[in-house]
Amino acid sequence: MTPRKLLAGFGLAAGAFVLAAGIVAFAVPGESARAPAPSSGGNGHSHAHDHAHVDPDQAEQLTGPFGSHGDRHPQARIFETAEAGLTERRRRSMSAKSGHFRAISATLLSEAGGEDMLQVHADALDLLGSQIDRLFEVASPAPEGEKGALQAIWDDTDRFALYTAAFADESARFAQTVRDGGDLINGLHDLRYYCVACHADFRQR
Ligand code: HEC
Repeated sequence: MTPRKLLAGFGLAAGAFVLAAGIVAFAVPGESARAPAPSSGGNGHSHAHDHAHVDPDQAEQLTGPFGSHGDRHPQARIFETAEAGLTERRRRSMSAKSGHFRAISATLLSEAGGEDMLQVHADALDLLGSQIDRLFEVASPAPEGEKGALQAIWDDTDRFALYTAAFADESARFAQTVRDGGDLINGLHDLRYYCVACHADFRQR
């Protein structure tokens, strides 16, 4: 076994440990394990900072082969409403798309290598893109005037469906462009249009 494989295997095992610890902690009922729920409706844009920073020593300890460590950013245990849960899931999923997008552009615009990872990111964008409509299944607009999803999404579902479908198509096309070794700079530019257009028309900033 190469050292790299060994390391990968070890990483996997460590991940499984942490996961197991997380599940056990999750299964333990009781108020003490309950992080504060997100602000009503998961609204506003401060959500990324909603979860109070916790002193690592006070936080729930996760144990594994690398010792015991507190998570400074504990997950909210409960979202009080479907709307709040979906809003959080939608924002995290959007951030994931953004992460893959920016990982691709950083690869294309630098000399740091990693071209072999482009397909991974493009396929992730394709997979997430093919499901983007599901992030809007429950009407969950941001409160009037606050940052987030606009009510128009649920008022004009036919029009909004054009935007989600177009993004799904374009993200599939981009993944194919990577597979074919095509023009990635232009492909990414084309994909970005659909992010920006949807934000312009359906997102309050
Ligand atoms: C079909 C519409 C649509 C498309 C396409 C779309 N977004 Fe979004 N995006 C939204 C909406 C609506 C919100 C606001 C969600 C909320 O706050 O509930 C959002 C929010 C975001 C956010 C903020 C997340 C947060 O934590 O508040 C990021 C980042 C983002 N999108 C990135 C992207 C990127 C990058 C793409 C393209 C690769 C993209 N989006 C494509 C509709 C879209």
